[in-house]
Amino acid sequence: MDTYNIFLEYYDKIVRWINSPLEDEVEFLNELIEMHKWKDKSKITVLETACGTSTVAKEFKKLWYNITWLDINPKMIEKAKENLDEKDLILWDMTNFDLKKTFDVILCNYNSICHLLTWQDWQKFFQMSYNHLETWWILIFDINTLFEFENITRDFAQFYNFGEDTVCLEMFKKTWYYEWLIKIFKKANDWRYDLIQETVKENSFPIEMIKKELKNKGFKVLEMIDFHFGNVNEQSERVYFVCKKR
Ligand SMILES: C[S@@+](CC[C@H](N)C(=O)[O-])C[C@H]1O[C@@H](n2cnc3c(N)ncnc32)[C@H](O)[C@@H]1O
Repeated sequence: MDTYNIFLEYYDKIVRWINSPLEDEVEFLNELIEMHKWKDKSKITVLETACGTSTVAKEFKKLWYNITWLDINPKMIEKAKENLDEKDLILWDMTNFDLKKTFDVILCNYNSICHLLTWQDWQKFFQMSYNHLETWWILIFDINTLFEFENITRDFAQFYNFGEDTVCLEMFKKTWYYEWLIKIFKKANDWRYDLIQETVKENSFPIEMIKKELKNKGFKVLEMIDFHFGNVNEQSERVYFVCKKR
């Protein structure tokens, strides 16, 4: 997958430290699992799909044993290796994997599912999660809602300075998906900046459609939580789904 290759250098600082403080997220996820677990933490097996550079995973490692991480981007996996045990890291597509074992918790965090552009791929991810979950255990994932993407595309540009370099993020609506345009102005010398560009595509689907599909696949949707305000409504921007395999 050819995304986050150049942006990777700035990814953790912008995405996980400035936009969504990691501590809040790890605490939130930990509480969710605590709430639904029925065996000792140290015995819980977790599969984090789309683990990225391992920001969440490395914090989870401090809380549990038996964690496996999977991502499609070799550069992400390479970076994750700085924090995680190589043997637990898997380079694989989350829409099509067969690990020949099941887990107590499957996690797909920080709107990673939105990187799957088609509804068929979302369906495949739900199926893969179902296949790899222990019965009565949980799948946790979050989405950026369509409302959020529409908002971001309206009038949004973010600028971040890193020394003398500047990173600019903008999102545009394409025909049937959304696209981040990432511009990096890198200081080359006293009189010149190099402009490096990269795009990352994302998509989302209506909450009711997702809920229905999860039920079709055999999940019980235990909770839907607005990450910022608790209760989900039509203006929710980021929504977590907690689903049990029946
Ligand atoms: C927004 S990042 C989130 C990373 C991490 N979950 C976090 O919380 O920081 C999205 C990740 O999804 C991964 N990804 C995108 N499509 C994927 C796929 N089909 N299978 C596995 N990983 C995928 C990307 O490589 C990237 O690392």
